[in-house]
Amino acid sequence: MNDGRISVKVGDITLQKVDAIVNAANSSLLGGGGVDGAIHRAAGPELTAHCATLGGCPTGEARITPGFRLPARYVIHTVGPLWRGGSYGEAALLADCYRNSLKLAAAHGVRTIAFPAISCGIYGYPAEEAMRIAVATCRAVQAEQELPEEILLMAFDQRMNSLLSEILRGGD
Ligand code: AR6
Repeated sequence: MNDGRISVKVGDITLQKVDAIVNAANSSLLGGGGVDGAIHRAAGPELTAHCATLGGCPTGEARITPGFRLPARYVIHTVGPLWRGGSYGEAALLADCYRNSLKLAAAHGVRTIAFPAISCGIYGYPAEEAMRIAVATCRAVQAEQELPEEILLMAFDQRMNSLLSEILRGGD
């Protein structure tokens, strides 16, 4: 499924040969479970050591590091909101994650970038709402800036793949 410069891809984000992959981190930036754990394992201990120098990252913001042992040149770490029912600013914070990651990517000349489904695992964000925000925010930022030219939204399972494909087809 391809939507011009935004597409869905099934697979492990740590294996993607893109300029940057995005990490769904926590505010300590020191690693954790889920995709964060997978990225830190694949990038090697150099990544965790580097992240320890950054002083953390507030929810909705993003920080960039080298990819170390990953095929990707950079990792952009962003901190998604913990889902608390939807009335604690979760939607705006999730949109900030995509927007701030894409702005940081552009500032570093990133042409291709892969995102995981930020907040949709351990942080409990309902997948459909989260992916509508992901697609709408990526489209809005692409309309404002040249880079990144290509955005991959990674689906780690078939359910997320079907959901994302449908949202990308739907045109909103
Ligand atoms: N490649 C692509 N997607 C993945 C991978 C992978 N290797 N592994 C998991 N996913 P989560 P969150 C998907 O829980 O909800 C950590 O402990 C997964 O199926 O990784 O933002 C952090 O340190 C799901 O759809 O991130 C934080 O404490 C999506 O990635 C907390 O979890 C995100 O799931 C962040 O929770």
